[in-house]
Order: sequence, then C-alpha cells, then structure tokens
Amino acid sequence: MPPMTTDDIRKAYLDFFRGQGHAVIPGASLIPENDPTVLFTTAGMHPLVPYLLGEAHPAGKRLTDVQKCIRTQDIDEVGDASHLTFFEMLGNWSLGDYFKEGAISMSYRFLTEILEIPKEMLAVTCFAGDKDAPKDEESAGIWEKMGMPRERIGFLPKANNWWGPAGQTGPCGPDTEMFYWVGKGKPQGNPATHDADWMEVWNDVFMQYNKKADGTFEPLKQQNVDTGMGLERIARVLQGAANVYETDRMKPIFDRVMQMADQKDERHLRIIVDHLKAATFIIADGVLPSNVDQGYILRRLIRRAIRSARQLKIEHDGTFTPAIAETVVAQYGHVYEKLKERRTDILDALKREEEQFGRTLKEGMKQFERAVQETGTQMDGTTVFHLYDTYGFPLELTKELALEKGLTVDEQGFKKKFEEHQSLSRAGAEAKFKGGLQDHSGETTKLHTATHLLDAALRKVLGDHVFQKGSNITAERLRFDFSHPDKMTPEQITEVEQLVNGAIAADLPVTYHVTDVEGAKKEGAIGVFDARYGAEVKVYVVGKGEKVFSKEICGGPHVARTGMLGTFKIQKEESSSAGVRRIKAVLGGGAKEITVAQEEK
Ligand code: ALA
Repeated sequence: MPPMTTDDIRKAYLDFFRGQGHAVIPGASLIPENDPTVLFTTAGMHPLVPYLLGEAHPAGKRLTDVQKCIRTQDIDEVGDASHLTFFEMLGNWSLGDYFKEGAISMSYRFLTEILEIPKEMLAVTCFAGDKDAPKDEESAGIWEKMGMPRERIGFLPKANNWWGPAGQTGPCGPDTEMFYWVGKGKPQGNPATHDADWMEVWNDVFMQYNKKADGTFEPLKQQNVDTGMGLERIARVLQGAANVYETDRMKPIFDRVMQMADQKDERHLRIIVDHLKAATFIIADGVLPSNVDQGYILRRLIRRAIRSARQLKIEHDGTFTPAIAETVVAQYGHVYEKLKERRTDILDALKREEEQFGRTLKEGMKQFERAVQETGTQMDGTTVFHLYDTYGFPLELTKELALEKGLTVDEQGFKKKFEEHQSLSRAGAEAKFKGGLQDHSGETTKLHTATHLLDAALRKVLGDHVFQKGSNITAERLRFDFSHPDKMTPEQITEVEQLVNGAIAADLPVTYHVTDVEGAKKEGAIGVFDARYGAEVKVYVVGKGEKVFSKEICGGPHVARTGMLGTFKIQKEESSSAGVRRIKAVLGGGAKEITVAQEEK
C-alpha cells in the first residue's frame, strides 16, 4: 500500500474522532476574532478558549477539527527538519467530558491502529511535577497499561510538559507528548534522555487550570482535554520523509524554489518554502503587508524569504514570490478555498511587496555603502538601527551584508537603540514578533469601548438589522464588521461619528453586571455570537437610567468613563463580504492613563 497522503491523514483523523462521538467543526481564521491579545491563531484550542473556560459549545462536549496555525517564536529554527511557521494542527477536545484515560487511549489507538505506526517507534513524556501541580503518574500509568514500556516514558518539567495559556492568562495544564524515533539505528531511551532523536508529533494537554494575571493557577470549572498533532510532522513519519519539506504537499513547493535557484543551500531553500507558504495563507485571511501588527509580521516573512532568495541568486524583481505562492495555492486550494478565491489578491500583494522591497533594498544599499566608508571594523548600533528603521533592513540582513565586506556589527548597540524605540509601532510589532503577543494596553481597551459605542450608533442610524459580524482591535485602530446591505452614505458616516463623539463628550459611566443569556436578552442587550455564551454573561452598560447609550454582552475590559476615549474618527467604510460592511476607526487624544469599568453595585 502506498503511504498515506496529507489529504488521507486529515480525513482519517476527522473520521476516527467522529467515530468516537466528536463533532467535526470548521477551523478558524489565522487572525483571531475578538482577541486583541494575540496576533495569530497559534493552536487549535485558541478559538475555543471561552468553551475551555466553561461556556457551552453549541456542537457539544467532544469536538475535532483541523486548524491553520502560525507560530513565529520558532522562526530561528525554521530550516531544520521539522519546525514550521505555518502548520496545520489536527485536534480533538473534551469540554469537561473524557479526561486522561480517554484522551491517551484514543491517541494511542489512532497512532498504532489507524496510522499503523509500529509501537516500538513511539515514546512519550509526562509532567514531572512542581509546586503548581503534582507529578503526572496517572498519565504514565495509563500509558503503561496501554503497552508503553516504562523506559519509553520520560518525565519533564513545566518548560516541556505544560501547555498554555495561549496568551498571558487562560486555560492551561500538564500535558503528555508523543514522539517518533528519528534517530539512527534502534530506538533508545525516551525524549528526556535522548532529546534530539525523538520528534514530537502529538500533544495531549489536560487543561484543568486557569492561569491568572498574578501568575497563580486556579482550578477550572471543568477538566478539559486539548490535543494537537502536527500534520506535516505525522506526514513525514508516515511517508518516511527525511524532513517535512519532502512530504507530498510540501515537495512541489520546494521543487519549484529549487528550479529557480542558482545555488542550492538547503536551509535557505526551506526558509523560502516555509515563509512564503505562511505569507500566502496570511494574505488569504485578509492581511496585507504593512508596518504594524499582523501586516508587519507578514512583511517580515516576505522580506526574509527574499533575503534567502538573494543568497541563492534567485531573481526577485516582482515575479519570484508570486510564482511560489502559485504552487502553494495549487497544493492547498482544494482544502482551503479562500486560497483559490483570493488567488489574484495574493499574487498582487506579493508582487507589490517584492517590488517595494527591491526599491527599499536599493536605497538602503546606497546608505549601507556610505556607512561602510565611514566604518572601521565594526558598524555602530545607531547606523544599524537607522538601516532597520528607515530602510527596513533587519539586523540579520545588515549582518550578512557587513560580513560580505569583512565587517562586524554592534549588535548590543543596535538592541539598545531598538529598545529605546519600543513604543514606536514598528518596533513594538517587532517585539511582539517572537511571542506573537500584543499587550492588553489602555489603547486596546479604549478602542474596545469605542467599538461598543460604534455598534450602538450604527443600529441607531442604520437600523436593527445591524449585527456584529467580526471585530479586530489593535493598539492603533478598531475594525468592525457588521451586517448591512449597502455602502454607507457620507451623511450616515458623519451621523455615526457625531453620535459616538456625543456619547464621549457626555462622559458616560461604563459598568457591567452579571446575568444569564435570557436575562441579557430581556433587558435588550445586544448579544455578540450568542452561542458562545453559556449560563453567566457580563453585560456592559454605557450610560445610566434614561441615558443608556449601549448595552452589550461582552467579556471586557472597558474604560470606566467614555470621556477617556478622545475623538472618534471613521477612517474607512468598505465591503467585507456579501451583505457585510467593514469600518476601520481610530481614537485621537484620549486619556493617557485609563481606569477600567467595574461591576455595578
Ligand atoms: N494546544 C496544544 C499544543 O499546541 C495541544 O501543543
């Protein structure tokens, strides 16, 4: 029998877990909705956080899906045999249903009976225990009962065998991880003793804690299971491939890059495949290259790919990145339809960015040559930062160029300059690049409250058919998608702005109270994505008595008074999809320090 293809594996996974009573749910966008704390979806559990915290999921207590993920914290490892920026995660969840025994036995059966991986090629790790949670002998015992020899079970601390939260707070817990032997000769020991020879393929997390802002862990209402298996890695195992780039859907992309390259440095070839595949999927989910947030990460990925192309002497005049994206669409378009729908947008965006980077490179090179003339043996931090800040030269690029001239660069000096500019948006986004995190700053809180005012104002001006269809907040702007069939007129836009600014000028108090969904509906609160909410919900109220401006079910946080918001301005009103409009808006000149809305007593 030929080995399973990537398509076969996706199907086998969903079929198996469907057979075990799991509802198959669609994967979410790479761009988290309503979560300003993280730039990208990094795991299958991410869109499910409210349910892990105890909300009822409409599809039930057993779920399974395939989730597109972006992880930028492993970016320096990209180019090795198994780390990817973009990957697909196969996942199954128990929301307070089965726990360790159920999760482990299903994982083991899937690996050994459905995928038919020889038992002797597998090993596992369990949590070693610390002050927050005990050693996970329970999981180890279950593995032993399933037939895993004791010597194949390693115990490791939190750094390895604890997963989550995805952001700074939220659901998390000890995990047990499954590994496949990729070392030479016969399998030996386990990942705790022979780390480099075992490749992690799957992680079962026992999410029974909620990490709080003060760093402590409180038990969750329910014991959850969150699992994630790397599709490209398991494909590597089943297809006997030397690395993930040799698997059936990745190889055609790799081969296309190979064809274009004059020089064949394996690492650079892989970086190009990884980064441009990630970029293609990010653009498909609606992001364009820019200097902030997701757009900035996207820009970095494209430019890093072009840098590697430069090393391989690949022409990059505007046709290179679109050509690679074409192969990505060809390999994945049948599974991810947006790739096909947005094909032209993807190719155009890449072409433009490649051309723009080409011009920037040229300008920056002149500047760089000038700096070389003034440099003895080491280029100073200020110059390196200037190249970075003004010409978009990443540190690595300047280092490479300097090396070609036999020079070094003052990295410490660069970092110091860099830190001084942390508050600037580009540098700020750079800092988030590694962790994929965005701060829960005063700015995002203000914009969140402004979103409620906007939602209410739109309903007053356009009518009650207006419902929130999506929301995305960064430190710079809010983006709000809502149901409405027509383009808004300039008058309507002005009227909405005036209503919102009127509410701000009135300095209305913001408070919340806790009720249930029914109660919230009865009092006329607008409910965003009703199904996500279970028994208890928070209703945020802007205004008081006669002067209630907005009432909305929401998790918060919000500012305590609307006067802190400053001036509200709509920058753009455009179509988002059929019957859905999108507004981008900003706040100017609000309070520097905010206080957050409290429960109404
Ligand atoms: N959320 C877990 C992980 O990403 C399954 O490894």
